[in-house]
Amino acid sequence: MDISMVKFDEKGLVPAIVQEENGQVLMLAYMNEESLKKTLETGYTWFYSRSRQKLWNKGETSGNVQKVKEISYDCDGDTLLVRVHQSGVACHTGTYSCFSGRRLGENEKSVAVVPEEPQSSLANVLNDLYEVIRDRQVNPVEGSYTNYLFQHGQDKILKKVGEEAAETIIASKNMDRKEIAYEMGDLWYHCLVLLAFHNLSPEIVFRELRNRRNGGSYHKFEGKTGNRPEMGYMEEEIKRFLNATDMKEGHPTEAERQIPPPPPEVPVPPDARVVRLPEPGLLPDKEVNFLEMVEMRASIREYSDKELTLQELSFLLWCTQGVKMALENGGTMRTVPSAGARHAFETYLLVHRVEGIPAGLYRFLALGHALLPIANGEEADAAMIPGFKAQNMVKNSAATFLWCADYRRMSHRYGPRSARYVFLDAGHVCQNLYLAAYTHQIGVCAIGAFDDEKLNAALGFDGENDFVVYGAAIGKMA
Ligand SMILES: Cc1cc2nc3c(=O)[nH]c(=O)nc-3n(C[C@H](O)[C@H](O)[C@H](O)COP(=O)(O)O)c2cc1C
Repeated sequence: MDISMVKFDEKGLVPAIVQEENGQVLMLAYMNEESLKKTLETGYTWFYSRSRQKLWNKGETSGNVQKVKEISYDCDGDTLLVRVHQSGVACHTGTYSCFSGRRLGENEKSVAVVPEEPQSSLANVLNDLYEVIRDRQVNPVEGSYTNYLFQHGQDKILKKVGEEAAETIIASKNMDRKEIAYEMGDLWYHCLVLLAFHNLSPEIVFRELRNRRNGGSYHKFEGKTGNRPEMGYMEEEIKRFLNATDMKEGHPTEAERQIPPPPPEVPVPPDARVVRLPEPGLLPDKEVNFLEMVEMRASIREYSDKELTLQELSFLLWCTQGVKMALENGGTMRTVPSAGARHAFETYLLVHRVEGIPAGLYRFLALGHALLPIANGEEADAAMIPGFKAQNMVKNSAATFLWCADYRRMSHRYGPRSARYVFLDAGHVCQNLYLAAYTHQIGVCAIGAFDDEKLNAALGFDGENDFVVYGAAIGKMA
């Protein structure tokens, strides 16, 4: 994009309309030249906040980042259209779009100047009917059949859905076109009542169908749309996740099928030269007031240029993944809790400033308390840094930890439930890092916002059996 084509106003600003790839308008914000350049450089949106009078990177703290797909300027060059892939929700109020549920003059004919798209009429009919059903739900009407259904509850509604489906089948088998339309009308109405019963809007079903049509590429965590606060897609996803990872019986895990477990650590190539880490106990034990430490802990994103000592790094690795005891069954007991003591993480370290070892990418070998060098500094940065989006703290960190799942170590024992456990485990690990680092005036900032694809590719992970779960940047406090 040629920035000289953009006309900034007298305050140096240009409005930027942000639109999701699927066409939905998400928000309007302002850019100045610097934020536009940063957006172009990083591939993520940066704006200029008129109230705070500074640049802001959308989603920096919330993780609701916007990956830029395309930026265009309008015919006058005084407005930008930024097409993005939105992670999470765009609006600070928690709705998917800043325009969700805020329609003006809904009942005024003068507002409806845009003719309806013919293909949206089905959605309109269903939405209108659904609104009536919802209205009955909140404002019951004497003698209303809809209220009769709600009063009798879910089983009654389900029975009717079943009956109407059966009647539609019969009409179809009878090749009776009029009857098919009539029965399917009944079926759709009862399906809408069922949706209302679950406080779901038809929009969720529309989106699901669009998603399938787009070959599943439509991203899942879209949040809420529609004209009223509603149960969003996100909650649906969470329900699905909780259900899929419920402790169900009848799906024997690999352990139950007597399949041998994977080793407690990804094996080290036999000819590898590893860096032995100093004993963590060599570091003088700092006396800290525990309560003070818990209260004072905070995420630190700016670090001094000072190097960490190898002993400090050793201590932090010990506190986050240190093996206290290797068990006869191949498992390990460590300094952090882990579901079933599975300890399914491999810790990778992107090192920039640690005394005694060159910058580069390393893997922590917890069993031998050593580091396995993987790539030199330049190579490692080139491969890894783009995966952290615009989070400069990684580039400026003395080292960045990445906890990566060797998923079979968990799933061998727990099957689908493991999807919960690896993420729960990661929280414990990172909290230990925060607390241990605090005792030595080392700052930490957790990192959950990263580009899975890029980081997994940089580390040679397939994204299923092994994948990055969580990270944290560290450095001496400035
Ligand atoms: C799961 C999780 C993910 C996080 N991801 C990021 C991140 O990607 N970038 C960042 O700057 N901070 C990240 N943080 C740090 C939070 O922004 C921070 O904990 C929060 O603002 C509260 O501040 P405090 O840690 O100083 O109490 C993350 C924290 C957690 C717990």
